[in-house]
Amino acid sequence: MNSESVERHVFVIIGATGDLYRRKLLPAFYRLINELGLDDSCVLVGAATTDLSDEEFRAMSNEALTGAGHGGRSCDTWCEQVLYYHPVSRDPASYVALRARIEDLERQHGMDGNRIFYLALPPGAFPSVIRSLGRAGLSTSVGWTRLVIEKPFGRDLASAESLNDVVHAHFDESQVYRIDHYLGKQTVQNLLVFRFANALFESAWNRDRVDNVQVTVAEDLGIGTRAGYYDGTGALRDMVQNHLTQVLTLVAMEPPARFDAESIRNEKVKVLRSIAEIDRDAMVLGQYTAGSIDGGEAPGYLDEEGVPEDSTTETFAALRLSIDNWRWQGVPFYLRTGKRMEARLTQVAVTFREPPVGLFQTFERGQRHSNVLLITLQPDEGFDLMIDVKSPAEIPRLERIPLDFRYEDAFGAIPDGYSTLILDVMTGDQTLFVRSDEVEESWRLYTPLLDAGLVPDPYPAGSWGPKRSDELPAPGGDRWTIRRR
Ligand code: BG6
Repeated sequence: MNSESVERHVFVIIGATGDLYRRKLLPAFYRLINELGLDDSCVLVGAATTDLSDEEFRAMSNEALTGAGHGGRSCDTWCEQVLYYHPVSRDPASYVALRARIEDLERQHGMDGNRIFYLALPPGAFPSVIRSLGRAGLSTSVGWTRLVIEKPFGRDLASAESLNDVVHAHFDESQVYRIDHYLGKQTVQNLLVFRFANALFESAWNRDRVDNVQVTVAEDLGIGTRAGYYDGTGALRDMVQNHLTQVLTLVAMEPPARFDAESIRNEKVKVLRSIAEIDRDAMVLGQYTAGSIDGGEAPGYLDEEGVPEDSTTETFAALRLSIDNWRWQGVPFYLRTGKRMEARLTQVAVTFREPPVGLFQTFERGQRHSNVLLITLQPDEGFDLMIDVKSPAEIPRLERIPLDFRYEDAFGAIPDGYSTLILDVMTGDQTLFVRSDEVEESWRLYTPLLDAGLVPDPYPAGSWGPKRSDELPAPGGDRWTIRRR
């Protein structure tokens, strides 16, 4: 990580009493500041509607850091030196007071007016808080000002457009950082390096050589205590529109003209614009019922706390889409995600075409196979390239083996995605953030499906989703392809 380009700034987190702050943002911020020695570079101001003093906020933050495996005297001192709290309310005037507090802290710490506002809030609060920041004169300053917005950005195309209007009424797009935490994952970023630093695969990365592409994001966990959020959201909005679509664009995009934010995001938007309208019959939704995972019993979705007993919210979605451009015409892309599936696995499977002739049919197991490249984004990050070799047995035989690579073996533990994203905001690099046209294009794809009122099929917890989803790739003869270690 490069710390040299971090200019001194005030980092304001609005929603700083919430779960996201305690579990993800604060630990990531703490690690970053410590690892890069940025203590003098930033001051963190927590803001939320709860009335807390600086001391109470520091104590709460210290507790959160301890929970995240940090803590101790050095943490205490750090909280004392870096953290401040300022309560805000629904009243826009409270943001004028926030501005005065920030200016005070800037004077006290000799800062130059550079500011970051991170909205770690429920999505319903985004518009009013953005307006309040703008009206309080907080969208500009003598230095730079950046606005970070958590997902979900809108619920459909219309709401995303109207949220973009609110954002652009007060902030320029060059100031805006829309988060998709999947883009902070090292393995997701590595998709670009893998494709554009290694000529070997790029020349085969097209309709002539690729048979189909699949993205699976399976979670073994259920919705936990998040029924309030999840039941009004569902898998399409929660995962497909953002995380899976981001992975898809990185797999499918053309090489960018340069390795910079605008060039890369231009190419991603082009992929989204080339996706044909998704056929409703090419989508299967599911909802988990009771089942067993890892030997334990898991309740069904309708029995989870806070879920209405007649809920039709989908906890699983699988779909087929096509990208109508020169590179991908005719190659099916499959996306699949679900909660309470058999295992936690995020994997991209690129299946290449079979060899044109079956030279080894006289061998035992001499049938033709496709080469498959499996890119595992989590949990055991790495690659497997499935190839056929001749086994050294007396009777000639083909064996399918993986050429594999694991990040952990090569590099040790992988840093958390939020640290990467926070550092990028600090250095002003928008590459890993979603641009306004990108978020709208993505909603354009899924809004008709959300409006179609499709009812989910049941699937038992601990399975790979509803039966009908197994058959989804079947028309072209493809199957869901995954590889677990
Ligand atoms: C979040 C979703 O954006 O991503 C959650 O709201 C989901 O429902 C989570 O569990 C998955 O993230 P990860 O990094 O654990 O794959």
